Amino acid sequence: MGELRMSALIDTFGRVHRDIRVSLTDRCNLRCTYCMPHDFAAWMPTEDLLSTDELMTILEVGIDAGIDEVRLTGGEPLLRPDIVDIVARINSLPNPPKLSLTTNGIRLAALAQPLKDAGLERVNISLDTLSAERFKAMTFRDRFDDVLKGIKSARDADLTPIKINTVLMPDVNDDEAVGLLKWALDEGLKLRFIEQMPLDAGGVWDRSTMVTADDVFHALNPVFSLTAVEARGSAPAEEFLVNGGPETVGIIASVTRPFCGSCDRLRLTSDGQLRSCLFATKEMDLRSVLRESDDSDEAKRAEIALRFGKTVLSKLPGHGINDPSFIQPARPMSAIGG
Ligand code: 5AD
Ligand code: SF4
Repeated sequence: MGELRMSALIDTFGRVHRDIRVSLTDRCNLRCTYCMPHDFAAWMPTEDLLSTDELMTILEVGIDAGIDEVRLTGGEPLLRPDIVDIVARINSLPNPPKLSLTTNGIRLAALAQPLKDAGLERVNISLDTLSAERFKAMTFRDRFDDVLKGIKSARDADLTPIKINTVLMPDVNDDEAVGLLKWALDEGLKLRFIEQMPLDAGGVWDRSTMVTADDVFHALNPVFSLTAVEARGSAPAEEFLVNGGPETVGIIASVTRPFCGSCDRLRLTSDGQLRSCLFATKEMDLRSVLRESDDSDEAKRAEIALRFGKTVLSKLPGHGINDPSFIQPARPMSAIGG
């Protein structure tokens, strides 16, 4: 048993927060159209990013407050030069959280084994198409082969189970649902289709044409026998056994059947702002507590703990994507952290 936790991050709707997604950089070596404009240039100055020491302090406070799962993301987290060290340091905390990492896979060929050795258990890899041509059109970079090599390296390093995240877009790759699932089953990968969310900050999202979870189900259903797996806890994946299992496919209806009611996540941007939701309109500045005060280390930690609590208490019941008054976040997904 771990030590008794004196506090818990409970919001006004009774949701207990245990999971934090941490963006390690807003930079990326791809330009996925649903994430950022291809000519995006408003990168954060490097000095705005949390240092690894600052990040560790924030994570220690969060873990004391009840966080037990950390997901490293970006931008592209493997562009952070000290990513292996970050993984090792998180793993050597007194109460190490569950730790995973979401990547586009490009740098995994070089990093999968060092990450495994540093204690990373598994990875999520984003891949939206099996065509190199389409990949280039969708990401503005010719790196399809690098992603495949990265997936292979992740498998060789046993960073498993490997989950593949796929976003289908109308008239772009929405004819690939069946092909992608066949491929994933052959390769021993756990595929999850994620509904495209309005996060591109450039306006490519269109509710009327978006590929919904129901669309994906209806594309797969004639080819595979799909049986719903009982939803559990805060797991957003709507999971289905494929052809009786044990393999599964996830179809995540983030827009059409939001799972906000059981959300247990917080997000930390790479510049040290805590958010209660991808779509929150406010952020809580944690970096300034660490950088701009002369208080003792203990007082700074107490203030950060307070700000964790306030952020959780400010959390709204849902993301409101389906409300007429919905406003897209001002920063792209790469800046907020997938
Ligand atoms: N909608 C849904 N998923 C998105 N991702 C990035 N932007 C969006 C969006 N607008 C996904 C990426 C990656 C994960 C971090 O989030 O494909 O798998
Ligand atoms: Fe990069 Fe991920 Fe955004 Fe694609 S979705 S541009 S891989 S951060």
